[in-house]
Amino acid sequence: MEENQVFAMPRIGDKAPEFKAVTTQGDINFPADYSGSWVILFSHPADFTPVCTSEFMTFASLEEKFNEANCKLVGLSVDGLYSHIAWLRTIKEKIEYKGMKDVEVTFPLIEDITMNVAKKYGMMMPGESSTKAVRAVFVIDPVGVIRTIIYYPLSLGRNFDELYRVVLALKTADEFKIATPADWRPGDDVIVPPAGSCGVAKDRMEGKEEMKCYDWFFCTKKISEETVLSTILKK
Ligand code: BEZ
Repeated sequence: MEENQVFAMPRIGDKAPEFKAVTTQGDINFPADYSGSWVILFSHPADFTPVCTSEFMTFASLEEKFNEANCKLVGLSVDGLYSHIAWLRTIKEKIEYKGMKDVEVTFPLIEDITMNVAKKYGMMMPGESSTKAVRAVFVIDPVGVIRTIIYYPLSLGRNFDELYRVVLALKTADEFKIATPADWRPGDDVIVPPAGSCGVAKDRMEGKEEMKCYDWFFCTKKISEETVLSTILKK
């Protein structure tokens, strides 16, 4: 790769840019190795820093829950492999934080000293830092398409419950062909697609379909938490 190669920032709906990398769990070929799974590719600014440590402990503690939703985790920073290994060992052996201790990070953490991957994914934001990646999150679906992108600055630790909610909401939208309203959680009403004709819109407004309409363009229906979770979790 040319050193000053300029990349377009990946966008929602794009195929996830491909790369091969060295990680704490061996080499990976991304996103091909994750075909059939959802994957969250996320960057952190630097090893041996406090916000990142709190994030890694939190994410590692939730890894099983994400895996049960068929979602794998892959971290990245522009540090080297030996720094990653030493930092993860320190976390396991020394850090007790908010009831979490002996936390083993078993998901891969990419070394990216060349910033090759960080640049490809638009994780370097020179206005924030020219030497550290920002806190980027890419949620990628089982066919390798980017479905959500979230960025946080260096000083702000992420909300990992929100990332779990994002994965469940994307899967629910795909499976049930609906959209999810503000603050949606499994069991809350979902938004049905717009009526295809005036007749259908009228029927909906007159309560002829099993849905609640706030106006002709805004109708919701119930899907129970059990139906949502039993349908989407392993997909
Ligand atoms: C942190 O993780 O604590 C951190 C990393 C880089 C800059 C500022 C804070």
